[in-house]
Amino acid sequence: MIGIFDSGVGGLSVLRAINQQMPHEPFIYLADQANVPYGSRSLDEVRGFAEGISRYLLGQGCKLIVVACNAASAAALHHLRHAFPETPFVGMEPAVKPAAEHTHSGVVGVLATPATFQGALYASVVERFAQGVKLMQHTCPGLVQQIEAGQLDTQATRRILEDALKPMLAEGIDTVVLGCTHYPFVIPLIREIAGEQVRVVDPAPAVARQVGRILDSQGLHDLDAYWQSDLMGQAPARRFLTTGDPQQLAAMLPHLLGKEAGTVEGLKWQSGHLLEISS
Ligand code: DGL
Repeated sequence: MIGIFDSGVGGLSVLRAINQQMPHEPFIYLADQANVPYGSRSLDEVRGFAEGISRYLLGQGCKLIVVACNAASAAALHHLRHAFPETPFVGMEPAVKPAAEHTHSGVVGVLATPATFQGALYASVVERFAQGVKLMQHTCPGLVQQIEAGQLDTQATRRILEDALKPMLAEGIDTVVLGCTHYPFVIPLIREIAGEQVRVVDPAPAVARQVGRILDSQGLHDLDAYWQSDLMGQAPARRFLTTGDPQQLAAMLPHLLGKEAGTVEGLKWQSGHLLEISS
């Protein structure tokens, strides 16, 4: 079973790509909606959440963990690999490398939360791959909350994106990097504002391929789940958990994942640990 987590619904953009590439792979998706947004919190605080969530997912039998959140990756990826050395972790980092390789204008926009911009991961990506490229950064204040509220195409959401993108467009960006896993859900709006000629880089498919490579190389695919789906037509085990309101997440899943996704279980934090809420 793969464990996938984010502060909220953002990681569903990564889960969607994993499901497309590996439809038989069972998973647990955990949204820490009691603490969303992560992006405006300190890296220390986010690291504490990421560690508690990883411990919980491992306790549930997860064999690989996808940190489907740029902010949590910036705050905790290094620490998690150290704290749980037996477990492969796949994290997110803003896709500055492919953007810098493909830009013609030499001007690239990066949309991410403050925690991601503060982390050492982003600084290292910029240092290694963005030499000679002008990067324009924006934190899109309020955008994560809009997406959490299902406001994917409202005036307020459009205004946030216009504030971020218009100055970038004026400087000649031809590429926008989505450095927050929530933001792929507003790609249609980004395209409306920026125009079809601006390339939008969503790292989710590349992250899903990386998950597949690790499952292959470490022999971690769940073969029972494959047999059961192929031979007996059974759906793979898929669980959704939230520290927020399970009903609210359940209502959003079909919109964001594009199909009937299933029920959502509730969790609560207690002294740094996650506990199940019996319904
Ligand atoms: N979706 C997350 C990210 O990629 C976190 C957003 C937030 O909670 O601020 O950064």
